[in-house]
Amino acid sequence: MHAGAMPLTATAVIAAAGSGERLGAGGPKAFVGLAGRPLLAHSLEAIAAAQRIGAVVVAAPADAVDRARELLAAHPGLEGTVVPGGPSRAESVALALEHVATDLVLVHDAARPLAPPALWDAVVERLERDSELSAVIAAAPVTDTIKSAEPGTEIVTGTVPRDGLWGAQTPQGFRVAALRAAQEAARAQGRLADATDEARLIEEAGERVGLEPAPAGNIKVTTAEDLLVAAALLGA
Ligand code: CTP
Ligand code: MG
Repeated sequence: MHAGAMPLTATAVIAAAGSGERLGAGGPKAFVGLAGRPLLAHSLEAIAAAQRIGAVVVAAPADAVDRARELLAAHPGLEGTVVPGGPSRAESVALALEHVATDLVLVHDAARPLAPPALWDAVVERLERDSELSAVIAAAPVTDTIKSAEPGTEIVTGTVPRDGLWGAQTPQGFRVAALRAAQEAARAQGRLADATDEARLIEEAGERVGLEPAPAGNIKVTTAEDLLVAAALLGA
């Protein structure tokens, strides 16, 4: 660390072990190309460019661990580890978390290649500043009018007031001890595998989660259309 620099206090965990069924590119989504580089490489570049993150643990598909290691080799300044992922996203994150040695961790989906370095740093700094928060998550206020429907039907039952509704994104930052405890509790009650984000586990443990407004470009790549939008945003 050079003089005057802030300490590197956080590790990034990247969930990259999914198969990318909905994208339909014929291989795992984290290795699909965007502007000439795999999706995973975009996140690694942002993490390397962030000021506050010194290490990264990637959960990769079991048959793509070596490819993930090759992408990490481009960032010798990052302490990098690759582990095979689990059967669900939450389990991939829990496996990667076993290799985290810092007090703070930022969990991120490889499917969000455009999270800028400043967002990573903002999440770390908010956790440092606000000791009552166990987590701080990138999020954006909902912009659509939200309708509810009886589950399994396509008939509206009402309109949900949009005020105070946010879409949860990644990165999501945590105090590692709090996240490990929340995962353990969820695992014991059989509700870990289905958690679609880690912040939910913290909420269910009765602890506080902060919202960090994310830039509009922090989109999630799920379908082929999303990949076109991401390419356009990178070109802009
Ligand atoms: N993920 C993971 N381990 C799993 C499943 C998903 O690490 N067992 C990761 C994905 O690689 C992705 C993130 O979790 O970065 C969000 O999941 P999603 O967008 O659903 O990606 P996939 O599961 O790959 O896509 P699909 O559901 O279309 O197959
Ligand atoms: Mg999935």
